[in-house]
Amino acid sequence: MFNTDTISRFKQLETPFYYYDLNLLKQTLQACTSAAAQYNFHVHYAMKANFNPKVLEMIQSFGIGADCVSGGEVKAATDHGFAHDKVVFAGVGKSDKEINEALDRDIFCFNVESVQELQIINDLAKAKNRTASVAIRINPNVDAHTHHFITTGLEENKFGVNTWELPAVAEALAKCPNLQFIGIHFHIGSQITDLSVYKNLCIRVNELQQWFEDHNLAVKVLNLGGGLGVDYYHPDEKPVCDFESYFKVFHDFLDIKPGQEVHFELGRALVAQSAALISRVLYVKNGLKKNFLILDAGMTELIRPMLYQAYHQIENLSRPVNGQQPVVSEEKGSLLTTHQSLLHYDVVGPICESTDCFRKDVELPESFRGDLIAVRTAGAYGEVMVSGYNLRDRVQSVYSE
Ligand code: LLP
Repeated sequence: MFNTDTISRFKQLETPFYYYDLNLLKQTLQACTSAAAQYNFHVHYAMKANFNPKVLEMIQSFGIGADCVSGGEVKAATDHGFAHDKVVFAGVGKSDKEINEALDRDIFCFNVESVQELQIINDLAKAKNRTASVAIRINPNVDAHTHHFITTGLEENKFGVNTWELPAVAEALAKCPNLQFIGIHFHIGSQITDLSVYKNLCIRVNELQQWFEDHNLAVKVLNLGGGLGVDYYHPDEKPVCDFESYFKVFHDFLDIKPGQEVHFELGRALVAQSAALISRVLYVKNGLKKNFLILDAGMTELIRPMLYQAYHQIENLSRPVNGQQPVVSEEKGSLLTTHQSLLHYDVVGPICESTDCFRKDVELPESFRGDLIAVRTAGAYGEVMVSGYNLRDRVQSVYSE
């Protein structure tokens, strides 16, 4: 991701910033779309993962649809060139204003998460003399085996309708002439690395689609959501996900009926590896028991480590190890070699919160004020979760081209 030229360029720039490797993003999108095309699967990009305009422009240029969870995302998707008839709108709490805006933009489908929401969309569509296409998001009670904060498909989660509510869904659909039922939707969680989880999901989806067919509700679309995980521990080893194996699971285990469309909503797998958060060491505090590297980026720029105890690889770009090119140190002006000593640091941000720590006990070359630090795999749920806390300057974006 970084060569000597890139690092020299970073030295001229103010930190912190998100660095986007647009070439890697393109390779990832190519791999995903060609793997999906083998089975005629439809891919939507989960906008919530990253709505940086340049990222959106590149993603839509691959003909991918958009999966949105707010009126703002629906607007951003259509404004950035995603086709309106490839936009889906999910979310447990769609407001009337958001539903109306999505109706006006003539989106492909609402992924509906409760019986009450069906009635509301029907009423709002009726007032506009329109018909809204809906898919029912079902909570399949399948364990995603991921961090409990990003698990969504268990009965204890707020998402989707539970299976015992399906008779009420069928009843409501029969009473809603301004709704067109088109299919069923699932999303069981995020950062899923064990593909057998998706096999279990397929088995459950096969049973559930039969229920709809038995109740004279034709399932034209099966939407399996997203969730494919990435390797946060080895960002350079396999920067592009194994989309081939991912889609093959659905091809092998999903009971796809003739004419049925299969849709996916991938976020993280498309964008995570393509960006890093680049910051500088402001201060080094050497304690008796601990050393701290205090960066000019913190939880306001990347909150995942603090919110989910998420692991992100941390690298000192000014002092590369493992045979990478040695770089002249800004602070000391010395040429560092691979013989440099490694120390342990708690890598923290500048925010007035003890939780503002990227990771404790990170092994790094001895580091100094001014060193450039990269926090890797920050392209998904990074820039989008930036907050205004402490009224800090808004983090910038820098692109590889
Ligand atoms: N579809 C639905 C309905 C979703 O709720 C999500 C993500 C996706 C698709 C995309 O999932 P992905 O392919 O990106 O795993 N902020 C957390 C992740 C929250 C995910 C929310 N839903 C994090 O930083 O890990």
